[in-house]
Amino acid sequence: MLSIIIPTFNEKENIEKLIPQVFGQLLAANMEGEVIVVDDNSPDGTADAAEAFSERFNVRVVRRPGKMGLSTAVLEGFRQSNSPFLCVMDADHSHNPEAIPRMFKVLMRQGADVVIGSRHVPGGSIVGWPFHRKLVSKGAKLLARPITNVKDPLSGFFMVKREALEGVELNPRGYKILLEILAKGNIHRVEEVPINFRNRRHGKSKLRKGEFWNYLRHSIGLWRTKKPKA
Ligand code: GDD
Ligand code: MN
Repeated sequence: MLSIIIPTFNEKENIEKLIPQVFGQLLAANMEGEVIVVDDNSPDGTADAAEAFSERFNVRVVRRPGKMGLSTAVLEGFRQSNSPFLCVMDADHSHNPEAIPRMFKVLMRQGADVVIGSRHVPGGSIVGWPFHRKLVSKGAKLLARPITNVKDPLSGFFMVKREALEGVELNPRGYKILLEILAKGNIHRVEEVPINFRNRRHGKSKLRKGEFWNYLRHSIGLWRTKKPKA
């Protein structure tokens, strides 16, 4: 069983389209899975919209009282899940659920602890990002170099085995939860599966300038975690 964690803040229109798509993929691939939406009391009613699907699909909504950040939402999703396999993806259609079965196969067959939906391996791409967003992404990637050799350590689309996180204390402050997992988790093998990242469909990015400084502190802090690079 795979738990698909989707953090949301004001993603009503997006989540309404995404949930049926995700289950369409699971069904077609004959996979058993659930969706856990972690919503921060979105004023647009995202939580209710998602919960309405629980009659048709294996969907749960975790409601938090206010906007508390992406990483802590993901960790809350991990806590609410009982599955050995965890997946994280964005609600805004940047991550095509078509990749889920492909990624899961790699997680199962190749003994990987982490599988990344990667924009930076052959076959992967970013579509529709303005120049400045690409530039920031390049800079952010450079800061991650001392921590890991993977090509897309900042992807928001990944799978991880729960056992790789057992006994590991993750710092929920940063936006970049995957980087934190790669730095601190019991990770022996990482695989990257190409994805085509698309700019969001509806609404605005929640990434604020403050996140940049957060990330700077976060990544430099992680440089000191003494772990062999995976
Ligand atoms: N619950 C909750 N609380 N969800 C949040 C919050 C929050 O405070 N902030 C953002 N989210 C949700 C959004 O609703 C969306 O589903 C997902 O997290 C990603 O947020 P975006 O605002 O779309 O982020 P982005 O597109 O700028 O960044 C994405 O791409 C980056 C790759 O360049 C994320 O996936 C990043 O993790 C990733 O590094
Ligand atoms: Mn986005």
